Amino acid sequence: MTTKRIACIGAGYVGGPSMAVIAMKCPQYRVTVTDINEARIAAWQTDDLPIYEPGLLEVVKAARGRNLFFSTDIRAAIREAEIVFVSVNTPTKTFGEGAGRAADLQYWERVAREILRESQSPKIVIEKSTLPVKTAQTMETILNANKNGIHFEVISNPEFLAEGTAMQDLLNPDRVLIGSRETPQGLKARQEIVEIYANWVPPDRIVTSNVWSAELSKLVANAFLAQRISSINSISALCERTEASVKDVARAVGMDARVGPHFLNASVGFGGSCFKKDILNLVYICESYGLHEVARYWESVVSMNEYQEQRFVRTIIGAMFNTIIDKRIALFGFAFKANTSDTRESPAIFVARKLLEERANVVVTDPKALDNARHDLTGCPREVEFADGPYEAARGAHAIAIMTDWDIYRSLSWEKIYQSMEKPAFVFDGRNFLDHKCLYELGFNVYPLGSQPLKHF
Ligand code: NAD
Ligand code: UGA
Repeated sequence: MTTKRIACIGAGYVGGPSMAVIAMKCPQYRVTVTDINEARIAAWQTDDLPIYEPGLLEVVKAARGRNLFFSTDIRAAIREAEIVFVSVNTPTKTFGEGAGRAADLQYWERVAREILRESQSPKIVIEKSTLPVKTAQTMETILNANKNGIHFEVISNPEFLAEGTAMQDLLNPDRVLIGSRETPQGLKARQEIVEIYANWVPPDRIVTSNVWSAELSKLVANAFLAQRISSINSISALCERTEASVKDVARAVGMDARVGPHFLNASVGFGGSCFKKDILNLVYICESYGLHEVARYWESVVSMNEYQEQRFVRTIIGAMFNTIIDKRIALFGFAFKANTSDTRESPAIFVARKLLEERANVVVTDPKALDNARHDLTGCPREVEFADGPYEAARGAHAIAIMTDWDIYRSLSWEKIYQSMEKPAFVFDGRNFLDHKCLYELGFNVYPLGSQPLKHF
């Protein structure tokens, strides 16, 4: 059997883990993951990987040096490969037309031109990044501008992994989506990609469609997930006014099989690099097609998220007698969710900045994300303290705000923490996951989301 060569451009949260799994499951493919970021590539070659993801190191080690390679030589990888995955970042545009909403496709287009320049043989080019619907058309236009008759087939194969559970998501995906042109060449290329995943994904979970449906499905999947969080968060505000409990409401609603129980945890707000950017991108696309009502509908998912973050800060200030000047407030967790070091768009960034504006003394602790937290909070109006562990962060604090649902926070000695704090001591549970009654009995004034505070005054 001849070895097929796969190149991946972009060695980030998606490129690294997804290619490691392909390499592990498909020894007959030689997979080279490339990036312009030399430090990132160097880290992929060590056991101190550039991203934290449970189970990732084991998978990388199983294939690295065998059929999985990391390199900064992007050109060589393109030249040698029959299949090129592109998983570069596609952030929100920060300048010019569509600033703050449209996707910034500069990295994407640079890669398209690099592929065009380096290719000496036909290739299947795969959109792994999340892109606006119809991007494949642009990609085809650029690639087929070549003068030497090389054929490029563009496939959309969006990634649905979530950080923190990336390895489970990749090894046992709900579905793999592969969209292509429905021409004979398009269908042949589609089949080649299906064959890669068929090495470990059951056939009924490999879904195919035309290329536009695949591109759009990715944006819509994220929009639906974020919409559920904004929906339950909006109800958390109503619960706090009506003595209903959002947990009880979510359970009752989620037990309807048509609704389902997942993604109904009220929180301080959703974070992560993608939900906000992908919804804003969807909004921009709708607007560009003149669908203003549709755009407003999806935009409200983002506004509700911002409202929830603001509401959380207002609750802290209100509960602490309307002033937090010089009060020590410990943020437990800074990552946008548990089991990741990623802090992109983490609600903790907004909360920390707002508390600093109110002149509180903010101390941040997180088991994995402290380096990123330091970076996110540089240039703030007041100095921030960073503590290695929760006990140290809580010592002398007036309040603790739970920002990330790290499991370790459930099993802390909350009595010891209570003893070490200023009184009255407050806990604001931005993840609604601690045992509130138990904390109250220890002496804390407890502010859950979406239910009545438990307070001693
Ligand atoms: P990332 O920022 O972690 O990684 C992108 C990498 O691309 C960076 O290392 C960057 O240096 C590299 N890069 C940029 N331009 C390049 C170029 N011209 N040549 C070579 N390398 C280049 O981003 P990510 O989180 O992996 O996301 C990538 C895409 O996948 C985005 O479109 C995102 O929306 C999507 N996505 C992300 C997730 C996630 O959980 N992070 C999940 C699904 C989909
Ligand atoms: C999300 C999607 O779940 C992935 O399918 C998708 O591939 C990815 O975005 C992407 O395109 O980048 P991710 O952002 O890694 O994955 O994490 P999620 O588990 O979706 O959590 C997102 C945010 O919502 C987190 O801040 C999380 O704490 C919050 N959340 C989640 C809630 O507040 N409540 C919930 O019930 C669930």
